[in-house]
Formats: sequence, structure tokens, C-alpha cells
Amino acid sequence: MKKNLAAALALAVGVGVVGAGAGFAAGTADDLINARQAEMKVNMKAMKAFVAILKGETPYDAAAVQAAVKSMTDAQAEGVAKDVWNASSQTGATVKTGAKPEIWTDAAGFAAAWKDLDTATAALAATTDEASFKAAFPAVGAACKGCHEKFRQAE
Ligand code: HEC
Repeated sequence: MKKNLAAALALAVGVGVVGAGAGFAAGTADDLINARQAEMKVNMKAMKAFVAILKGETPYDAAAVQAAVKSMTDAQAEGVAKDVWNASSQTGATVKTGAKPEIWTDAAGFAAAWKDLDTATAALAATTDEASFKAAFPAVGAACKGCHEKFRQAE
């Protein structure tokens, strides 16, 4: 009984500290999984816009590319603020996650994979014409793939 109370208190204090640091407490595992999958859907939407340019379905437009990249970095920042990769979200209660345990056992590798994406999308946002866009695009696709291969379960 005493032990349980102490554990409950430690948990309450711990959550309080996280809440103060991040602006609000982390949600349930299901909340976090839903939020990070929504973040990934934003990535997918941006990716589709890039591929359309690549295929010549939509004309290259620097402002549109920059807006799509911004949607990705905004979604990522929101994910960081919500702490969507918190270790408490390795498995959902009702929501299925494609996250691999390596996200938490290889945190440095996971952070590096995010950095690869940031570097690639920054280069894409800096393009000025179709030729430079086409040259910068493969690194973005490689960054998605690179992380998925290591940190996302195959479907
Ligand atoms: C640093 C790692 C990382 C990068 C970079 C990354 N992803 Fe993901 N992605 C994941 C993980 C992990 C999941 C599984 C998340 C889960 O189900 O909890 C995922 C899931 C997804 C999903 C499925 C979302 C759903 O509804 O379940 C899509 C779509 C996706 N990613 C697209 C992309 C695209 C497009 C890019 C590149 C522009 C990208 N991702 C970059 C790690 C990454």
C-alpha cells in the first residue's frame, strides 16, 4: 500500500515535470500514436506534391515547394511539442503502431534519421528551378526510406 502510494506520487510528479517542460503532459499511447501518424500523413501529402512536380504533372513552383516543406517542418515541430515519440507510446491500447523498438533503443540513430530529412527538405526548399528541384529531390525520398527501413515495421 505504502509502496503504491509512493509510486503514484512519483508518477504524478514525473508527469508534472514533463508537463511543465513541454507545455502540457504527454497523452495516452494511443493519442501519441495517432498524432505521429497524422504527422506522417502530412509528410505523405507533401511527398505527393513533390512527385507531381517530378513527373511534370504540376509545374515547378518555388513557393509551392517551400509551402509543402513548411507543412512538414510545422508538423514535425508539433510532434516534438507533443512528444509523440515518448517511450510510453511503444504499443497502443487500441491503435496499431508501425513503430519499431529501435526508435527507443537507438535514439541517436533515430535523431540522425530526422536530421537527414531536415537537411534534405531544407535543400529542396532552397531550389529555384525544375533542374535544381530534380537534383535535390532524391535525398528527400532517401531520408523517408532510410528511416522507415530502420525504424518502421514492414507492412
Ligand atoms: C526519422 C524517421 C522517419 C522519417 C524521416 C520519416 N518517417 Fe514516416 N514513419 C516513421 C515511423 C516510425 C512510422 C510509424 C509510426 C507509427 O505507426 O507509430 C512512420 C509512418 C509513416 C506513414 C504511415 C502513417 C500512418 O497513417 O500510419 C507514412 C505515410 C509515412 N511514414 C510517410 C513518410 C514520408 C513520405 C516521409 C518522408 C518525407 C517520412 N515518412 C519520413 C518514421 C519516419
